[in-house]
Amino acid sequence: MDEDVLKARTRLACNQQLGTADFKRWVLECIGNPRNSTILDLGCGEGQFALVLAKTNKVVAVDLARANIEYVREQAGKQNVRLHAVQADFDHYNPSIKFDCVLGCYTLYYSKDHQHLFARIRQWLKQDGLLFFCGPDDGNNEELGQLLRDSGAGHRFKSMDEAKSFMDDAPKQLRDLGFSTQLVSFSNPIVFKNPSQIMQYWKSTALYDKRIEGNVSRVIEAHFQSFPTFTLTKRVKGIQARIRR
Ligand SMILES: C[S@@+](CC[C@H](N)C(=O)[O-])C[C@H]1O[C@@H](n2cnc3c(N)ncnc32)[C@H](O)[C@@H]1O
Repeated sequence: MDEDVLKARTRLACNQQLGTADFKRWVLECIGNPRNSTILDLGCGEGQFALVLAKTNKVVAVDLARANIEYVREQAGKQNVRLHAVQADFDHYNPSIKFDCVLGCYTLYYSKDHQHLFARIRQWLKQDGLLFFCGPDDGNNEELGQLLRDSGAGHRFKSMDEAKSFMDDAPKQLRDLGFSTQLVSFSNPIVFKNPSQIMQYWKSTALYDKRIEGNVSRVIEAHFQSFPTFTLTKRVKGIQARIRR
């Protein structure tokens, strides 16, 4: 299996098992807990949203990774839900129907051309349709960043910066395309109970750097000699966008 897919699965498992807030419920609320709607889930991953939504809606789930699409199809079969899972790059994908909701969680910043993708999504939405997507907010992973600085990491983390600047720039890009936008936010404190849980999580993120692994391990061990847990807060920014009438 692709290394990025494995890393994304590790992060998702940590967030779900050690997180203290319900991210999935928040996302479903942000899209209005739809029923009897047509929904396009872009970059669906393992289908944590698509599979739930497909119980009461018509869902198309798209992901670049074949392993994810196979997994979603298998789970849909096991859970006896119907959905259409497509392996495709959303920068080139063209759906054949229009949607009440287009969803993109932690994924749209992978697009090679954000403005073009937004313009295409606009065409895929019904007149009253909702585009909702989310990604990292200011201060996301700050405690991990501090821990890495304490370990001697002095450099910036480019991939995280790219995702954040995508989220910062998106409202203006969307308004230029005739959307109205609304920002929402969410915090999920992830509570790690031992050093190996944090090491495993760090290794699954874009912040991992093998060169400082020894130092990071020592700083984490020292933290746990003084405290019973280490809390890392996932700060999420969500954007709800609708076509202006
Ligand atoms: C961090 S995961 C998020 C998965 C899911 N949305 C969730 O929140 O659980 C990002 C997903 O985007 C997918 N992805 C990345 N670039 C893509 C592209 N150009 N087209 C379609 N999917 C893409 C990856 O394969 C991965 O499954």
